[in-house]
Amino acid sequence: MDFLGFFGLREDPFKLTPDPAYFYPSASHNEGLLLMDYSIDQKEGFILVIGDPGTGKTTLLKVFLEKWKDRAETAIVLTPGLTPEEFLISVAEDLNIHPGNKNKNEIIKALRDFMTQKSSEGKRVSIIVDEAQNLPAETLEELRLLSNLETDKDKLLQIILIGQPELEPKLMAEKLRQLNQRITTRVHLRHFNADETADYINYRIIKAGKQNLHIGKKTGSLVHKLTKGVPRLINMLVSRSLMAAYLEESASVLPRHIHHAVKSLNHSDMKLTPRLKYAFMAGGVTVTILIAIIVIDVSLHRHSSDKDAVNISTINTAPAKESPSQSAGSADKIPSSGSASVPSEITAIPDYKIVSVKVDVANVREKPSFDSIRVGWSPKGIQMIVLQEYVDEKNMSWYQVPFEGEKRWISEEVVDVIEMGEAEGR
Ligand SMILES: Nc1ncnc2c1ncn2[C@@H]1O[C@H](COP(=O)(O)OP(=O)(O)OP(=O)(O)O)[C@@H](O)[C@H]1O
Ligand SMILES: [Mg+2]
Repeated sequence: MDFLGFFGLREDPFKLTPDPAYFYPSASHNEGLLLMDYSIDQKEGFILVIGDPGTGKTTLLKVFLEKWKDRAETAIVLTPGLTPEEFLISVAEDLNIHPGNKNKNEIIKALRDFMTQKSSEGKRVSIIVDEAQNLPAETLEELRLLSNLETDKDKLLQIILIGQPELEPKLMAEKLRQLNQRITTRVHLRHFNADETADYINYRIIKAGKQNLHIGKKTGSLVHKLTKGVPRLINMLVSRSLMAAYLEESASVLPRHIHHAVKSLNHSDMKLTPRLKYAFMAGGVTVTILIAIIVIDVSLHRHSSDKDAVNISTINTAPAKESPSQSAGSADKIPSSGSASVPSEITAIPDYKIVSVKVDVANVREKPSFDSIRVGWSPKGIQMIVLQEYVDEKNMSWYQVPFEGEKRWISEEVVDVIEMGEAEGR
């Protein structure tokens, strides 16, 4: 039996390609996507997305493109080491514009006509540069000049620069001061925290077709320590650990498999600190991939109203104040967040469900009630695994989902159930 068959997986969960279908909305990625959406929607000029290597910049870009594909014309520049002229030609070609003459002025004129036309059709035009830290300063300056294209009322073009941390100091150079001033939105992608690391691993395993293979908190914490929460490193480490387990025909990933994986990867960014080495040697780290017992109440009750959708123009970064009607007395009817934790032994095979936010912005709450504190929001298209389901006294379903490293609640009114099933064998 091959590796995937052995673990009952449909496909490799930890591929290194930035696949939007596997997008995991960590707090930072979620916020980044929301800010990008908002900036394009509001026709703001320049957006900057910064993140360490492997933190998911290109993945975020792909999710963003997927969301905007019907509403925006986008030129994507993936090989940014281009001179200003080469850059303009590449942008025009990507937008399917073919000026008769390829001199710079002709291309800019053709671009302006195109953008004016699209603007009158209510469409956005954006240029996105990935790996923008490699753009020569003159090409960045050319981009700034392009961003001047505007009508009396609106900017005709939005520009998203995506790059590694060295891009920011580069933009602070004197000759790029004007461009730097025009950046209205800055997104910094953070590494996953320990809880997000475990959620992320579980999410990918579920997506790859294995509903009852989960990773425990301790394993997540160990992987987090070794990878510092960088998704690319997590993928490499867990993938190699699964392979080590497979070679031993072990259905669980044990500390020695992770140890073996770190050593065989021999990656300069994943070092065994003396403390971790000791933990492995002493067998002090007890980790295993477990079968979880998250038993979900699958009763579904539909409501037509949209109470928990947020109008994007009303977003406020502070959590909403606790409503006076949020009585302590109702707490005992609400499932405690502890009841969804991953157990330390096999007790049942779970059902599973994945929901996707269907409104522009959905409130995420501390408890399953409209009276509960809003702890944040999720933008349209974000997918989440349901950890638990709760039906309130009005027959409204609430889904408990991982959010910013905590277990939070989202109303059925603002999401669609996009995947749901029973573990095999049921
Ligand atoms: N939020 C996320 N959800 C799912 N997978 C992710 C996420 N972030 C990163 N990954 C995974 O991590 C790996 C690296 O992601 P990606 O290529 O997007 O990083 P990057 O920041 O663009 O890296 P680089 O700086 O090298 O270009 C990919 O396998 C991708 O699938
Ligand atoms: Mg990238």
